[in-house]
Formats: sequence, C-alpha cells, structure tokens
Amino acid sequence: MAKNKNMWGGRFTKPVDKGFFEFQKSIKYDYKLLEYDVYHSVIHITALNKAGILDDNECKKLKMALKSVLDQIEEKGVESFLTSSEIEGAEDVHTYLQRIIEKKLAPKDKELVDKLHSLRSRNDQIVFNEKFYCLDKSVAISSQLITLLESIIVLEEKYAKENFIGYTHTQRAQAVPFVSYLSAFFYMFNRDTERLQSYVHNLNIYIGAGALTGSSLTKENYNEAIKEFQIVKQPSNLKLVENAMDNVSDRDFIIEFLSAISIIQMHLSRLAEDIILYSTKEFNFIKLPEEFCTGSSLMPHKKNPDFLELVRGYTGMIYGNLMAILTTMKGLPLTYNRDMQLDKQPLFSSIEIVEKELTIMAQFIKGIELNNKVIKAILKKEKALYATELAEWLVVEKKVPFKKAHDIVGRLIILMEKKGENITNADLKGLHCSLTKKIIKEKMNVMHALMSKKTVTAEISNIENVKAKVITDNIVTSN
Ligand code: ARG
Repeated sequence: MAKNKNMWGGRFTKPVDKGFFEFQKSIKYDYKLLEYDVYHSVIHITALNKAGILDDNECKKLKMALKSVLDQIEEKGVESFLTSSEIEGAEDVHTYLQRIIEKKLAPKDKELVDKLHSLRSRNDQIVFNEKFYCLDKSVAISSQLITLLESIIVLEEKYAKENFIGYTHTQRAQAVPFVSYLSAFFYMFNRDTERLQSYVHNLNIYIGAGALTGSSLTKENYNEAIKEFQIVKQPSNLKLVENAMDNVSDRDFIIEFLSAISIIQMHLSRLAEDIILYSTKEFNFIKLPEEFCTGSSLMPHKKNPDFLELVRGYTGMIYGNLMAILTTMKGLPLTYNRDMQLDKQPLFSSIEIVEKELTIMAQFIKGIELNNKVIKAILKKEKALYATELAEWLVVEKKVPFKKAHDIVGRLIILMEKKGENITNADLKGLHCSLTKKIIKEKMNVMHALMSKKTVTAEISNIENVKAKVITDNIVTSN
C-alpha cells in the first residue's frame, strides 16, 4: 500500500476531494510558524528519548535534521522554504516539517520520521507554536516601541524651549510647552510597552497536552526535556501542561495580543491624525518630512500625508482582525475545532502591519519641523488662551470665588473681542477692582501661564526608566 502523505488517513477508504483539500490547507500562511514547530519537535523527541521510545542514535539523527531546518531559517529566512518541493500537497506546517525531515533522513533513515510524531497531536503543536510566535513578536514590538520613544525624545530635545497650543474639542484651549505635548505621546506608547510586558509575563507556553487529554509520556520525561531545551533557549514561561483541554482550546493569548496591538494602533492613529491636522495650511503648525509624503498626479502643489493616512486607515483592519478572532471563538465547544485554524491570518496581518508602521513612524517623527513663527504669533496675539490663568489668579491672589472669577473673565473676553487694544482701565475696573491694563499684560501671556502651573513639569521624557522595565530579549540563545 502506498504511504499516506497526510498525517492521518488509515480509516479512510476514499481519497480526499481535491477542492476541499485546497480549501482546508493552511500551509500558505502557517509556514511562518516553522521555527516553533521545530522547537516543539526538539522538546518532544527528547521526551520520547527519555521514555525509551527513541534510542539515543535515533534521537540524535532527528535532532540534527531539525537543527538544519533552524540553520536554514536563520541564514535564509523562513520564506526560503516556500520554494521547496515538499511544500506541494502539504496540509499545514506540521505536515510540512515531517516531509522536510523525511527528505533530510532519506534514503537510509527515511522511516525514522514516522517516530517523530509519536504520542503528540497537532492540537498541542499549533497552540505551542502560536504562543511562542506571540512571545517573540511581543518582545520585538516592545523594542520597536522603545525606538519610537527615542524618536519622540529627539524631537523633544530639538524643540525643548518651544511652546505649543493645547486643544480640547479641537478648539484652542491653553498654552503648553511643546515638550509636554510630545510627551503625551511618549506616555501613551510607554503604556503600550508596559502592556506588552505584562502580556509576556502572563503567557504560559505548555507542552504535553496530546490531542486534548494529555500524553502517555510521563511528567518527568517532559520536565527533563523542557529543562534541556531551556539550556539553549529559555522562555521562562515554558511549562508542562496543567489542564490539557483548556490548553488546546485556548486562544485568549491571541485575543489579548491583538487587543494590545489594537491599542498601539489606536495611539498611532491618533498621533497620525494630530500630525495631519497640524500640518494643514489652516493650522500650519508643523512641516512634514518630504520623504514620507506623496504628490498629486494632477495638482502640482500638493504634498500629501499618505503615510499618516494609511496608518489611520489600517486601524479598521486591525480592529477587524481582533473582532474576527473574538467572533470565531464565541460559542466554540471544547476543545479544539478546525475553526481555530483561522486565527492565524488576522494575527499575522495585525502584527505585520504594526511592525511596518512602527518602523516608519520612528523615522517620520524625527523629521517633523515645528513652525515656531506661526505658533509664537498666535501665543502672543490670542489673549483668550490665558483666560483660565487670569481666572485662577483672581482666585489664588485675590480670593475671588471661582464661579465669580470665571464670570468676570468671561465678560472680559467679550470686551476684548469688541474693543481689542482699545480696552481701558475703567472698563477693567468695571469687571473687578483688581483688574488693570498692567495686570492683564502681566497675567495674560505664555510665560505667566506656564509659570503658574505647579503640578506638572515640562521635562524631556526619561527613556532609561522605560528601558529598565522592558524585557527586550526574553529568549536568550546560548548557541
Ligand atoms: N492547521 C491546524 C490549525 O492551525 C493545526 C491543528 C490541526 N488539528 C487537527 N486536528 N486537524 O489549527
């Protein structure tokens, strides 16, 4: 009887329908997990060896073949496997790895591959692979976030002495140091790094679940295998399975990761929107780095913020990816169901988009130029920006009840709009006995506004504190 090319088939009498086979294949995208399938295999065959199912020589041969897969991934990237003939007809990454190993062992030890899958299930493998992938990617994205934070600091340092206009409801509100404005984004992306840190901290990667009820290898077999593996690679959260049914049916870690990614994306989108708005002719507060803009095919004068618009636009896809998995998982009976295969494309898609966005955004931010002249002119001319500070001065220095002070300054603003520079001391006295032209001049300016703020300090953001907390290299490779 010809050898079945799939990892199953003994109970089937008819060949699988070709159209259906193509439909159910996941190799087109799950090949990205090949490296992690090798890790699972290395731990598993060590456990098989401990249990006496594989002898030392067989274990060594399989490990060498597996190691050569890792070597190729490291040298040429996982995409280099896409051209291999073994990928033809492979159902998924697990089948594909079996075939690669079979070829490497051929002709002499070809049959040895049949022992590789002893007492393990793809249900256990896939969740192991995906968790490992999420772990690696959260570490990588954390370090990209750090690079973005460093770029924000570059801009903070460049414009450390400049001020800006703070908005609420997209209406001019109060003057603010430009550093404080920028560091608002620093705080957002810093929270994102912290969120990823706690994600990594809570992520347990299990092995030994079998299809859903555990394995007939012993705890000791697996624990020794895990220990040996951790000498080479050490995700501290690699463990023997606790509840096998939960393990093979759990995709919370993908939903959590995509939630964290969605929040990063929301922050990127808000940053993009601010930059788009402030770079318009109407605002004219900042100039965009030309290398990240495009022109119009018809209108010669255009310089369009396409990068930022695409960042804003991708938010729909990234939120959609999260919703896709949440919806797929809703109502699935325990334990593994094939529906869960569809978790990969949304996961890979969101991660790959955010990785690209973070890379470019870190460059983009450094290239932004502040249009000091425009901002300075507004800060000088627009007295209403200091209405709040004047009201607060009346409260703090003149003990006017706040409601009354609010009212006085409100009426002052109407007067100023009407009379402008022609406002008189008599007008001001009519509002409150302490108000004079001199006082207005002293209190309604950017310097006073900033000096009067006691709860916040406009300092360049501190990256060292962030770096100290971030695990940028959770996986230590010793050889
Ligand atoms: N390709 C499958 C997935 O990604 C792997 C697990 C398959 N298990 C099974 N019993 N068919 O979910």
